[in-house]
This record gives sequence, structure tokens and C-alpha cells, in this order.
Amino acid sequence: MNSLKNIYVFFLFALVAILVTAQTSIHNKGLKDYYSSYFPIGVAVSTQSLRTDEVQLILHQFNSITAENAMKAALIHPSENIYYWKGADSIAAFAKKHGLKLRGHTLCWHNQLPVWFFTDSAGKYVSKEVLFNRLKEHIYSVVKRYKGIVYAWDVVNEVISDNKGEYFRNSPLYKICGEEFVAKAFQYAHEADPRALLFYNDYNEIHPEKREKIIKLVKQLKKARVPIHGIGLQAHWAIDEPSEQQLDSALRQFASTGLQVQITELDISVYPKGISSITNPSVETTTFSSEQERLQAAQYKMIFRQFRKYKSFISGVTFWNISDRHSWLDNFPIRGRKNYPLLFDKNLKQKKAFKGVVQF
Ligand code: GLA
Repeated sequence: MNSLKNIYVFFLFALVAILVTAQTSIHNKGLKDYYSSYFPIGVAVSTQSLRTDEVQLILHQFNSITAENAMKAALIHPSENIYYWKGADSIAAFAKKHGLKLRGHTLCWHNQLPVWFFTDSAGKYVSKEVLFNRLKEHIYSVVKRYKGIVYAWDVVNEVISDNKGEYFRNSPLYKICGEEFVAKAFQYAHEADPRALLFYNDYNEIHPEKREKIIKLVKQLKKARVPIHGIGLQAHWAIDEPSEQQLDSALRQFASTGLQVQITELDISVYPKGISSITNPSVETTTFSSEQERLQAAQYKMIFRQFRKYKSFISGVTFWNISDRHSWLDNFPIRGRKNYPLLFDKNLKQKKAFKGVVQF
């Protein structure tokens, strides 16, 4: 009788232990675990963030990182014969040490290519040949340095114009080389690391006219046998944009190109798109309202529902910044305005939006 009782007590304890362990592991799951059968979940990091308490959050929630700024030409290659590798190296070492995937960002972007790339000693535009040589030298150096660590590169960023009826952005790159620099950049990146996946990356990708132009560009590149493997959708979105129907048709169209799709810079601004001034300074500089929280949670829930629907085409989703402690949207586009675009608050705690993303 006594031994029967012992067996009963033993099984009861075992059952409680199993339940407690299961509960704990559910609570310990990070975004990357919920999405392990969908796509890697990444985050843009700075070298400073890797020296703070944000490291624990990164390792718990994410299995991929992107250097927010440290691999851009403006930082790595500020003048012709000078490379500063320290910041980018430390991010690459962090990824390697912790077994995280690393996206490279970005090799050719008009906005942060330093002026010396385009100009001669008299400040005049250089010839196309000179610019191609400089671009090649830059891309070879950066891509070869991180060969085997960076698995995918945003090779070319934001060349498509936002203006109605205008195809390419009228940047110095375009003025000097015409459209050709895009194919050249992909070619150089492929020569430097034939195994890296190469992406074209852009924003406002959900707007029908811009979307069409992006798709036209990547189709042209594919047709010309340029080594391009994917389209990066930056996904700097807001509580009122995109709608589910708009996102659904954008993802469907990008997927139909046959290239892989990555969401590369995701955040959801808590201000409607198109608002260009602060309406209520004392509130907007300091407060994340419950209405904003509700709308943002609904938006995050919807977009992840769509991402899961297109999981066979999407090979990565990366958030742009770690928590609301710091976002590039603080003070942009409106000075003095604080934004709260991410899934973790300033204390690195999960926001309401987190639940909607992981409960499915
Ligand atoms: C673009 C760039 C990113 C970053 C953001 C703003 O989306 O691709 O590298 O600079 O703007 O932070």
C-alpha cells in the first residue's frame, strides 16, 4: 500500500515538474523561437548597443543582425585610402561568437557614399570609369573582409525615384553613370563573394507606382543575368499604412518576381503617415498613448499574419532598431517628436504588440 502511495507521489511530482518546465520554456521563447519554422528574425544594431543590457534582449529574441550604420561607406571608407573597420568588425565578431546570421548593409547608397567617390581634387564630377573603379575597390574590400560571415548583402539601396513619372532617382551616381551602376555593383559584389545572397533594397515599396518601378528594375536585372537574389522591402510603416489588402498585393507581386523577399528595416511609427508637424507638443514629445498602443498592436498583428502567409517567399524579417529606447524615427521627420515604433519599450519590456505577433 505504502509503495503504491510512493509511486503515486513520484508521478505527481514528475507531472508538476513537466508542467513547470513547459510553462517556463513557453515564457522563455523569443521571437526567433516562435518563428523558427517561418523565417529568421533580425534586428539592426549599433556598436554601442552591443555594450549595453540590450545584448541579453538581442540574444533572447533574435537570430540575425544587421549593422545599422557601421558597414556604410560613410563610416567605413570616409576618404579614398582610408578604411575604418573597427565598428563593423566588432559587429561581425559578435554575430560569429553568438552564431547569429549577419546581413550586410549597404554597399551602394547615394545618401551615404562620401563625396570623394564622385569628385576629383577640383570638386568636379569624375568620369564613369573612375567612379566604377572606386566602387569596385570599395565593394571588393568590404565584401571580401566579411566573406563567410555576412550571408546576404543589401548591394544597392534606394535608386528608384519617389516622383511620379520618374524612374531613377537623379543622384550623382545616376548623373555620372546612368542606370549601369546598379548592375556593376551587383557584379562586383558577386565577384568578391560568389556565395553571398545579393539584394536590392528600397522603401515606399507598398505604394503601387513605386512598387511597379522596383519590380521593373529587378526584372531588368534578372533578364540581363545580373547576379541578384532578392528584394529587400524596408517596411518603414505606420499605424495607418499599409492596409492588409495593400500589403497582401505588394507581397504577392514581389513574390511573383521569383526572387526571395526579405523585410529588411521593419518599424511601425505610432503617427499616421503624412503628418508633418507636431499637433500637441507637450504630449507628443513624451507620451505613448493607449490609442497608439492599440492601433500599433493591431497593425503588427496584421502584418505578421501576412508575412506568415507568404512564408515560402520571405527569407528574413529584420526590425530597424532594438527597442523604443532608441529609434531613427525619434526626431525624424519631425524634430522634437519621440516615436515608439518597436516591440520592446524603453525598459526593454515586451509591449502589447508583441503578443499579437507571437500568438497565432
Ligand atoms: C534607410 C537606410 C537605412 C537607415 C534608414 C534610417 O532606410 O537604408 O540604412 O539609414 O534609412 O535610419
